[in-house]
Amino acid sequence: MSAAATAGTWRLGDLEVNRIGYGAMRLTGNGMLGNSDGTPIDRDAAVALLHGAFEQGVNHIDTAAFYFSPLRSANELINRALSTWPGDVAVVTKVGPARDVSGEWIAGVRPDQLRGQVEENARQLGRDHLDVVNLRAGGLGTDSVAEHFGALAELREAGLIRHLGLSAVRPEHVAEARTIAPVVCVQNAYGLDWRRADENGLVDLCAELGIAFVPFFAVSGRRREAAASREGDARVRSVARAHGATPAQVRIAWTLHRGPHVLAIPGTANPAHLTENIAAGRLRLTAEELSLLDGPAPQPRPLTR
Ligand SMILES: NC(=O)c1ccc[n+]([C@@H]2O[C@H](COP(=O)([O-])OP(=O)(O)OC[C@H]3O[C@@H](n4cnc5c(N)ncnc54)[C@H](OP(=O)(O)O)[C@@H]3O)[C@@H](O)[C@H]2O)c1
Repeated sequence: MSAAATAGTWRLGDLEVNRIGYGAMRLTGNGMLGNSDGTPIDRDAAVALLHGAFEQGVNHIDTAAFYFSPLRSANELINRALSTWPGDVAVVTKVGPARDVSGEWIAGVRPDQLRGQVEENARQLGRDHLDVVNLRAGGLGTDSVAEHFGALAELREAGLIRHLGLSAVRPEHVAEARTIAPVVCVQNAYGLDWRRADENGLVDLCAELGIAFVPFFAVSGRRREAAASREGDARVRSVARAHGATPAQVRIAWTLHRGPHVLAIPGTANPAHLTENIAAGRLRLTAEELSLLDGPAPQPRPLTR
């Protein structure tokens, strides 16, 4: 069994994937702006990293056409890697938000503009159709997803998209979208210290409906696009020590313990972190550890003179 399959598999529609996948946003640098010293990631190194992921069983990658830095695009790097990889890899991309060629965000993308975004992803990825397209609702400038999701449903009917998903949504968006077309996955910010999707019932709703829940920022947490920092939560450090694991592995494993429908897409440009993240699928947390991690986070100690 490959390392990425040790936590099991899940079906995105008719596409069976290992529960440990890979998020490509960090390939072009933290925050999509390039690496901190401005040097773009070496193309061969990026392709080697992706091949390393595939060799360890990753067959589910998350990407977007707007993941680009001045000289690199995540889709271009994935296209290169897949062109010399014989296996099947489900590529999930997202549309809704967009950046112009200089990298500035474009506000208020209309439903009729989504076809162009889907075609741009297909061109960059070198594919005639896309496996899964998520509509990222946050940033659309409208609270209803109906018109945008309806536009994507038409592209699915036309054969340009195989399956549809949602991102940055609330439970009511899932209900609204499902009246239009099937939803195979929901991708939201979620992790040990970012529990809104528990509070509003989204993680459980996805489980009930057989929809994959795919957290992002599960490692970096509230630091979001900023680089993950040294682990600040003593509970995570102690559980990690007990397993001879790393804090990042505990954070990833914790998300996977929320249910068999939860998939991981940790992002990294570091091959050692990649291997570590994929190996997190083997980590089995005890009931005591889960209740420790689920409990209230310890308050930071007051400063004493
Ligand atoms: N739908 C959306 O709106 C949305 C938004 C954001 C992200 N995403 C997707 O979700 C994926 C995951 O999110 P993410 O990449 O921002 O966050 P993440 O996986 O939570 O964390 C990535 C950060 O943690 C570091 N890191 C990763 N593994 C580590 C390890 N084992 N030990 C120490 N540090 C580690 C990375 O730096 P190194 O490179 O140094 O390892 C990077 O700074 C993205 O890649 C993207 O595909 C989707």
